[in-house]
Amino acid sequence: KSRWHTMKRIVQFGVVGGIAYSGYVLWDARHPPLQAPFDPEKKTIVILGSGWGSTSLLKSIDTDLYNVVVVSPRNYFLFTPLLPSCTVGTVDIRSIVEPTRFITRHKTREVKVFEAECTEIDPVNKTVTIADNSEIKGSVNTSTIPYDYLVIGVGATNQTFGIKGVQEHALFLKEVWDAQKIRTRLMDCIETAGFPEQAPEEIDRLLHMIVVGGGPTGVEYAAELHDFLVEDLTTWYPELAGKLKITLIEALPNVLPAFSKQLIDYTEASFKEQNITIHTKTMVKEVHDKDITIQQADGSLAKMPYGLLVWATGNTSRPVVRNLMSKFPATQKVGRGLVVDDWMRMEGSDDIYAIGDASASKYAPTAQVASQQGKYLARLFSQLALRDHLEQDIAAMTNEEEKQSKLRRLAKVRNVKPFHYSHQGSLAYIGSDKAIADLPWGSGNVASGGVATYVFWRSVYLSNLFSLRNRSLVATDWIKKNVLGRDISRE
Ligand code: FAD
Ligand code: NAI
Repeated sequence: KSRWHTMKRIVQFGVVGGIAYSGYVLWDARHPPLQAPFDPEKKTIVILGSGWGSTSLLKSIDTDLYNVVVVSPRNYFLFTPLLPSCTVGTVDIRSIVEPTRFITRHKTREVKVFEAECTEIDPVNKTVTIADNSEIKGSVNTSTIPYDYLVIGVGATNQTFGIKGVQEHALFLKEVWDAQKIRTRLMDCIETAGFPEQAPEEIDRLLHMIVVGGGPTGVEYAAELHDFLVEDLTTWYPELAGKLKITLIEALPNVLPAFSKQLIDYTEASFKEQNITIHTKTMVKEVHDKDITIQQADGSLAKMPYGLLVWATGNTSRPVVRNLMSKFPATQKVGRGLVVDDWMRMEGSDDIYAIGDASASKYAPTAQVASQQGKYLARLFSQLALRDHLEQDIAAMTNEEEKQSKLRRLAKVRNVKPFHYSHQGSLAYIGSDKAIADLPWGSGNVASGGVATYVFWRSVYLSNLFSLRNRSLVATDWIKKNVLGRDISRE
């Protein structure tokens, strides 16, 4: 009996302690302490961007050692893996963003955050020019900021290969506003298709949703669209839902070229079951306002009418990155990003670093790579600060014995380990509560697909979300979708 009593007490203490700790974490998150001001004695790191790479750096960087300035046209971090879910309302956009100031206000020293776009980098004078790109304009719209170290984490922009009509007529899926536009256009197409006396061929056009690019973005978007059609549109638009068609166009012989063969076959078979038509070995050659011209496997050209066209054919460098490359013609010759060494330092410069999709390295442009690079840079900067500190100490030393000992330490500190990427696996949602996963296992790989993998997919994304706030919002969105269905009103 007494053992039972003791056990009960332990559990009670555990529960009360857990509640108290969670309460403290929540209170602490909303009441950050006062911060130290900028220190003119310290070096300044300017971080461009608030995406995966930059935010991971920001989270880990020691602001006792540096002054930090963040410049980004958006004042938040976006959890891109769940962005396809926002195009149909499975998850709310607000649930997957985290304001940058929620992170910077918790640093020991004040971090300056400017919602602005970096328009030019001057590597000679070590400054960046920034421009206020919001609709509201003040008396000053541009400014110049000096840096000691610059970290370029501006990501990439959408690759269109210069194909005529893409910029004007297609929608992309990279940013919050892209997902909002897709959702609005989708509902507009459906409502217009339901307009009285709409011609049958026009209904077919309006309800033809084309996705170009069979990489993970295109596949996940097509999958979400399918779920919306089956789970919601069939109920609320019974007269139209049966006419909605989803087509995925891919230039290569198969979709998801980066996944294992078994998972490619599984995805293609699953799309067939879900009535998502895949056209492989098909290139989009031109885009018009109501149709696209495609080149089929046999080389023939054909027209394909569409209501909604989502373009997901990968990445290319942003203008600010291309402009910087042109200033380093000897070392920066790769179009897809800034060439960096194994320490993420831009080739040709000693104080500019590039991470994530803005860099051209041996790694794929993924969130996993960008966030590991950001974390790595935080460690590297700590080591550089220690190096500077030791060098100053040594210069002022007179005692030879102490000096030798510090010099040995300095040699160790100067020996910074290069970046090492640890691949945690690749996941993708493929519709109908099924996902695929390519996971590293020993020296090989384990491939799995299906409903159980989807449960795994959900748990991985939930645990990887940025904050407790994001996790609870996304979990609530998933429950809401299952209980109440998705919202079908136009944004
Ligand atoms: P980003 O996260 O794109 O951030 C770039 C930042 O720079 C943004 O804050 C932007 O506003 C800012 N910026 C842009 N221009 C300027 C400028 N001129 N000056 C200053 N700041 C600027 N990867 C995975 O590993 N797993 C996934 O499941 C996954 N899902 C994805 C789903 C979708 C729909 C998409 C589009 C991508 C997905 N990715 C995924 C890829 C992943 O999102 C990118 O690789 C990752 O975002 C790259 O991080 P980054 O920090 O380099 O760039
Ligand atoms: P991607 O580069 O992976 O795929 C683009 C696809 O478009 C390619 O397969 C290409 O052959 C095809 N294509 C190019 N031009 C074409 C044309 N004219 N007509 C038809 N098809 C054409 O691009 P995506 O999917 O945007 O992904 C970008 C990066 O983000 C990748 O590194 C990817 O791994 C990552 N990502 C990862 C996700 C995940 O892990 N779940 C989800 C989304 C993106």
